[in-house]
Amino acid sequence: MTYERTCRVLLISGSLRAGSTNTAVLRTAAALPPAGVEPDLYQDLGHLPHFNPDDDTDPLPAPVSLLRQRIRAADAVLFSVPEYAGALPGSFKNLLDWTIGDDQPGSIYEKPVAWINASPRGAAGAHEELRVVLGYAHGSIIDEACADLPITGSQVGPDGLIADPDVRARIAGVLETIADHLHRTRYL
Ligand code: FNR
Repeated sequence: MTYERTCRVLLISGSLRAGSTNTAVLRTAAALPPAGVEPDLYQDLGHLPHFNPDDDTDPLPAPVSLLRQRIRAADAVLFSVPEYAGALPGSFKNLLDWTIGDDQPGSIYEKPVAWINASPRGAAGAHEELRVVLGYAHGSIIDEACADLPITGSQVGPDGLIADPDVRARIAGVLETIADHLHRTRYL
């Protein structure tokens, strides 16, 4: 489908690992966006301070302010997150905690969100928790865009991208589903 309006999708990986499969999924999404999708790959997870409500005041810590600006500038957010010990990684939960207090227009509140579950082992606990936390944040989950797309490290090339054409097509399909959803629900 071709649309006149381009939509910006912020891509947030929940892994800090250099060889992360979750980051590779989103890097591949950023490298091969379908027509009409402008991807924005967030790579500053490791720069966020530990969440402290006392610090959630003006002036915000600079990395938090930048995170909130990137979310506000996005039409939707796509996550890809590993499971640690049956739950979300602490550093990623920390990012979500920083999104909650943003009361400006375009914040995570009612922002369309989706995820790619890249785990070959299901990672059910992490994704159940992701749904719960995004619910508290009042994100608007695009269920039809959420996808299980198991990836192993051997599928990530030296360029940090996934070369498999079927996987690439499925990643692009997730972005297309997000764009279709936005055009059906937001832009008409
Ligand atoms: C893991 N891993 C893991 N996997 C899983 O399915 N359930 C789990 O509870 C855990 N727990 C866990 C704890 C710790 C400390 C580590 C380091 C790893 C495996 C992990 O999710 C898997 O390696 C992912 O592929 C990591 O994601 P990235 O870094 O490749 O994006």
